[in-house]
Amino acid sequence: MNKKFGVKILGTGLYFPKKVLTNADLAKMVDTSDEWIRTRTGIKERRISERNETASDLAYMASSEALKSSNISPEQIDLILVATITPDMFFPSTACLLQKKLGINSIAAFDLSAACSGFIYGIATAKAFISSGFYKTVLLVGSETLSKITDWNDRNTCVLFGDGAGAMILSASEESDDVLSVYLGADGSYSDLLFMPGGGSANPTTIETVNQNFHTMKMQGKDVFKAAVPKMALAAQKALELSGKKLEDINLFIPHQANMRIIEAVAKKLDISMDRVFVNIHKTGNISSATTITALDEAIKTGRVKRGDLVEMVAFGGGFTWGASVVRI
Ligand SMILES: CC(C)(COP(=O)(O)OP(=O)(O)OC[C@H]1O[C@@H](n2cnc3c(N)ncnc32)[C@H](O)[C@@H]1OP(=O)(O)O)[C@@H](O)C(=O)NCCC(=O)NCCS
Repeated sequence: MNKKFGVKILGTGLYFPKKVLTNADLAKMVDTSDEWIRTRTGIKERRISERNETASDLAYMASSEALKSSNISPEQIDLILVATITPDMFFPSTACLLQKKLGINSIAAFDLSAACSGFIYGIATAKAFISSGFYKTVLLVGSETLSKITDWNDRNTCVLFGDGAGAMILSASEESDDVLSVYLGADGSYSDLLFMPGGGSANPTTIETVNQNFHTMKMQGKDVFKAAVPKMALAAQKALELSGKKLEDINLFIPHQANMRIIEAVAKKLDISMDRVFVNIHKTGNISSATTITALDEAIKTGRVKRGDLVEMVAFGGGFTWGASVVRI
């Protein structure tokens, strides 16, 4: 295992649940309006999973597409990594449940929890395993059913989130390295600004925790906004430096889609014009770990980027966590 390998990105895929929830639908549920949501967040609609549709179901659909676009069979994968904060259940991991759905036996599989930065943390993990020679072909998925931990009576949060999954297949290469850089950061002292209090060892599920509404996301939106902008800009700058590339070398920036105003503020801080920034928040809302990878897949499918282009992805989320990566697609 002494040899160092590069990483080749073989393909990507995505899946969104069929059900669309528009701002007009939300205005019938809480005291809000299409105008408020659009102007404050940029979101027009989001996808919502069915009651019996799980994170591993969404992950399976996205993975199947990624396998097809990579032109490989499931048997060629030797590690499954799923980034999620809405696993099917505490255990077994969503990665193991996905493994079962894909019909692959006896390969390594585990989940990774880094909230909205989960996919960037996943790229770093996949790169470390591949470059060290531990694994050859990694299926990396970001999959979320945030609608299931959303408080549908809280207008401060319920307008922001959606469901979806994206997948990428990364493989060892002796010729090239498509993951030019990854930069990660975290600060747990902000853990009480975006979190879900119930269900874990701090507040095991009881009738009381249900009655106290501990099983849905809690957020101090303004504070999260204030931290997200500088941290995303910092991560983007650091990953760019580590890649040895210049701002003008990057063909497309893919920021985490949490709020259109956050995206614009980060672009302004980095001095990047918005025509070089990918935005699909109007259709998806914030889908946490699935955001950057679904955006990348859409950018590839719609021809915004082509094979060989350089893309910089940057994310920020609960924890707080943040990270960025420069990749060649
Ligand atoms: C949540 C967020 C959209 C709120 O926008 P904001 O401009 O900060 O709005 P404020 O929190 O100042 O609220 C302004 C007013 O709008 C109200 N409001 C909040 N949500 C509303 C909604 N959906 N519809 C109508 N009014 C709403 C508030 O109650 C407040 O009313 P008040 O002034 O009477 O108290 C914004 O702070 C945000 O996007 N934060 C980051 C969230 C995020 O990205 N989280 C995930 C990170 S990965």
